[in-house]
Amino acid sequence: MEFKAALLERTKEAEQIVFSFLPKEEGLQKTIFEAMNYSVKAPGKRLRPILMKETYQMFGGKQDAVLHRFMAALEFIHTYSLVHDDLPAMDDDEYRRGRKTTHTVFGEAMGILAGDALLHHAFDTAAGSFLLADADLSQVGRALKILTEKSGICGMVGGQVVDVEMEGKTLTDVQLDFIYRLKTAALLECAMMIGATLAGADEESVARIEAVAKRVGIAFQIQDDILDQVSSTEELGKPVGSDEKNHKMTYAVLHGLRDSEKEVERLSKEAVELLDSFSQEHTFLKELIVSLIHRKK
Ligand code: IPE
Ligand code: IPE
Ligand code: MG
Ligand code: MG
Ligand code: MG
Repeated sequence: MEFKAALLERTKEAEQIVFSFLPKEEGLQKTIFEAMNYSVKAPGKRLRPILMKETYQMFGGKQDAVLHRFMAALEFIHTYSLVHDDLPAMDDDEYRRGRKTTHTVFGEAMGILAGDALLHHAFDTAAGSFLLADADLSQVGRALKILTEKSGICGMVGGQVVDVEMEGKTLTDVQLDFIYRLKTAALLECAMMIGATLAGADEESVARIEAVAKRVGIAFQIQDDILDQVSSTEELGKPVGSDEKNHKMTYAVLHGLRDSEKEVERLSKEAVELLDSFSQEHTFLKELIVSLIHRKK
């Protein structure tokens, strides 16, 4: 199958899985369920759950019910990070995934609470794996630890903290690398490491997968910075020029577009080389990583 068609199929499948764990919009706190569902159902790329499933299949995973819970949990965490990232106190953006941002539609308080709610719902969904009859409890425990670490203070949240603190300041490459590794690469590492873990991969393989995802993630953020400069709001589904507005010294601002494109390519090639050192079949995963180099959204 052609790559584009294969990706579309996987995107739809990931969406179906993620949506199946969304809450019903009922009860006195109905507004929060509506805000959660609004933000998750907006058309995202679903890159993280797709990466998780592909890595899981690469290592021959066989506990699909557990995998599905972690795919949903990670997309909930990613979506909460976007809802909070768009808040007036952070990047103050009006569009996300081609729609008005959650706080713009539901108000700032509900935007904050929708993010909080998605985070809790993510861990509730993942923890539900412990109650599944055939689950390998040790693998579930390790996956939960990865989810916690990569999304928290030493992962996404930690990266966002330094990203905000460094607004308006010129950064060294070491500082930039730190921010991109944490705010963006951490959730991609999380996706692939959990996929490998739930498939029973050994620790050394999981560490090698982390090294692949780290490079994909940093390249992904540099490409995001490039698109913030050269794309259009229509194509991107979120405002362009957000970084300039917030005085963010991104990789693209500090190194220029040409060098940024080269760096995206260099990191992605390294990722592919590391991935190719595995004997397991990984054709689609490789194509996916390569496709991200020139992604337009
Ligand atoms: C956006 O992530 C935030 C970054 C880490 C750059 P995505 O580009 O994966 O956003 P969606 O999920 O497709 O909306
Ligand atoms: C944010 O980076 C990454 C997150 C952890 C949400 P950006 O602020 O550049 O992400 P976008 O461009 O708003 O998606
Ligand atoms: Mg931001
Ligand atoms: Mg932003
Ligand atoms: Mg951005």
